[in-house]
Amino acid sequence: MAITQEQVLDALKFVIDPDLGKDLVTLNMIDDIKIDGKNVAFTVNLTTPACPMKDQIHRACENAIKELVDKDAVTKINMSSKVTSGGGISSSGDELLPQVKNIIAVASGKGGVGKSTVAANLAVALAKTGASVGLVDTDIYGPSVPTMFGVKNERPNINTQRKLIPLEKHGVKLLSMGFLVGVDEAVVWRGPMVSSAVKQFLTEAIWGSLDYLIMDLPPGTGDIQLTIVQTVPLSGAVIVSTPQDVALDDARKGVAMFRKVNVPVLGIVENMAYFIPPDAPDKKYYIFGQDGARNLAEELKSPFLGEIPLQQPIREGGDSGRPVALDEDENGTFTLLAQKVAQQISIRNAGMSPTEKIEIQFK
Ligand SMILES: Nc1ncnc2c1ncn2[C@@H]1O[C@H](COP(=O)(O)OP(=O)(O)O)[C@@H](O)[C@H]1O
Ligand SMILES: [Mg+2]
Repeated sequence: MAITQEQVLDALKFVIDPDLGKDLVTLNMIDDIKIDGKNVAFTVNLTTPACPMKDQIHRACENAIKELVDKDAVTKINMSSKVTSGGGISSSGDELLPQVKNIIAVASGKGGVGKSTVAANLAVALAKTGASVGLVDTDIYGPSVPTMFGVKNERPNINTQRKLIPLEKHGVKLLSMGFLVGVDEAVVWRGPMVSSAVKQFLTEAIWGSLDYLIMDLPPGTGDIQLTIVQTVPLSGAVIVSTPQDVALDDARKGVAMFRKVNVPVLGIVENMAYFIPPDAPDKKYYIFGQDGARNLAEELKSPFLGEIPLQQPIREGGDSGRPVALDEDENGTFTLLAQKVAQQISIRNAGMSPTEKIEIQFK
């Protein structure tokens, strides 16, 4: 008997996206079904190209067709993605960046814990999966993007409408306060100036369509951070901490700040989690303490996004303008971190849609 499109869809209703807890058909992920005799081809649109479950879902689809449709079927599954959007409406009611699907803040309470390192590598790792990615460095007092991307001597162009054109390096679109403001000048800036500059960075720049726009926030949880966080419609925040108590106390304040303004905390990253000497790989030192951020994530009921070791190449990559994520394989630290963050964004965005549906029903 000839295989029908309906049979294929019925079978795929048994494939559940493990993160979103619903089947692929209900999630509208199946496209382009083509049947030719025993050949069954279709596209699965995941919610992110950085999906860590890609292979698992591919296998589950193949099995479903073979077991529920025809054991001799020959499947050809195109694993693609359409990133979902968490970009809300800004507090003023207008859509600030309609073409940017997700704005993600990378924050820490304390400075020097590796926030910029995480932001830069996260951006690069997401871009490597094929996502379109931007990075805004809002740390006016200590901008890092120019150094970390090796673009210290470059400046963004301005088009005829006087809009900024972000630089592009390592597959990531970049804007940094460091491109526009000298360090000496920055020290006299106050909160409102910073937040209006940040808003300009977002609205007066040609970002184009982006799946993810990463914002490297200045350290701390004061007025400036709070204003920035309220200026843009964030999909969520990633908190970076070392396992050390002083850093954890500040990370706790960071989580509290985001929760106060209803920005979901996507999770906590533990940076400088341990050190393995390259010449003594059987040794492992917990220089800043052990599991501090992991425990904090548990305490705050926030996802733990992973540990990043203290490694000389990570520091060198930052200083030389070539983030280590560029040269990682699929099991690399930042590659796995990017998958976790993208996964949390997808879960967050999927969680939002039922609320919208209820609104429509009551209209
Ligand atoms: N996991 C790591 N291994 C080695 N060096 C790191 C690591 N994380 C950060 N660094 C280094 O520590 C310094 C501070 O990191 P940075 O990302 O600038 O922190 P922050 O943005 O939080 O102030 C930088 O010189 C950076 O290269
Ligand atoms: Mg920084």
